[in-house]
Amino acid sequence: MTAADLTDLAGRVAVVTGACGRLGPAWVDALLGSGATVIGLDRAAEPDSALREVLDAHGDKQFDFHVADVTDRTTLERVLAACPGPPQVLVNSAGIDSPPSALGGGARFGDLPKELSGTVLDVNALGTLQCCQVFGTAMAAGGGGSIVNIGSLYAGLAPDPRLYEHIQVDPPFLKPPAYGMSKAAVAALTRYLAALWGPAGVRVNTLSPGGVRGDQDAEFVAKFTARVPLGRMALAADLRGPLLFLASAQSGYVTGTELMVDGGFGCW
Ligand SMILES: NC(=O)c1ccc[n+]([C@@H]2O[C@H](COP(=O)([O-])OP(=O)(O)OC[C@H]3O[C@@H](n4cnc5c(N)ncnc54)[C@H](O)[C@@H]3O)[C@@H](O)[C@H]2O)c1
Repeated sequence: MTAADLTDLAGRVAVVTGACGRLGPAWVDALLGSGATVIGLDRAAEPDSALREVLDAHGDKQFDFHVADVTDRTTLERVLAACPGPPQVLVNSAGIDSPPSALGGGARFGDLPKELSGTVLDVNALGTLQCCQVFGTAMAAGGGGSIVNIGSLYAGLAPDPRLYEHIQVDPPFLKPPAYGMSKAAVAALTRYLAALWGPAGVRVNTLSPGGVRGDQDAEFVAKFTARVPLGRMALAADLRGPLLFLASAQSGYVTGTELMVDGGFGCW
């Protein structure tokens, strides 16, 4: 088998949750580029411009978009029923990272409403669990496959408050504690399912990106980058290779792990 054969996903059905946004289109791009038929779902009403660009580049014959909410099992079951066959790849990317400022005025740690934390945990942790219950169970019954749960640097490391102290708001900006909690739960779910479904041929791994360059302010970027041995924030394109590694036969003997794609942020 050649190296190219190892990443060939032709004939495979891949489900991507959170197919819009910053990273969803990168996962779709990588999977379509390897020949998979991709079923993208998002709570957004339609593909956003980044996803449209990917579909324009590949053609949308092997892509189907569904509006679905990872917290609503009925919508996920509807997507499964519309799949052209049992999925062999599942990328759990739908997620939220709601800072207290999303409430309008911000909040101090002691005043964070339980509902805000609950929403983050509901989407990121329980939503991922529910997608595994619906799509992963079909994979296990259908002969196996690969689940890639998108984690985060902050599953294993605390966000450094100094990265945010230049932001002039009162109360001071807080990265929501529930975000890292939810991603740690995702990593735990990965290990749980790797043990449960190994005998059924379903591999389950976490891919944990570091900070991805977006609309962050220049001071944040400078402070963040100073902590990255590779000297820059990630680009969505940096994540395609790691995703294909975990999704394909290249990682046929890899399960239950967390692959850090963080430019070395966590190594010192
Ligand atoms: N961007 C980063 O720097 C970064 C770093 C580490 C980890 N991550 C993780 O990667 C994943 C993707 O991040 P992103 O930057 O693309 O985020 P994003 O906010 O740009 O996109 C997330 C997508 O998920 C969708 N979504 C949210 N809640 C949903 C729900 N309940 N049901 C269905 N779809 C839902 C949104 O509509 C959106 O299209 C997330 O899990 C995030 O935590 C991102």
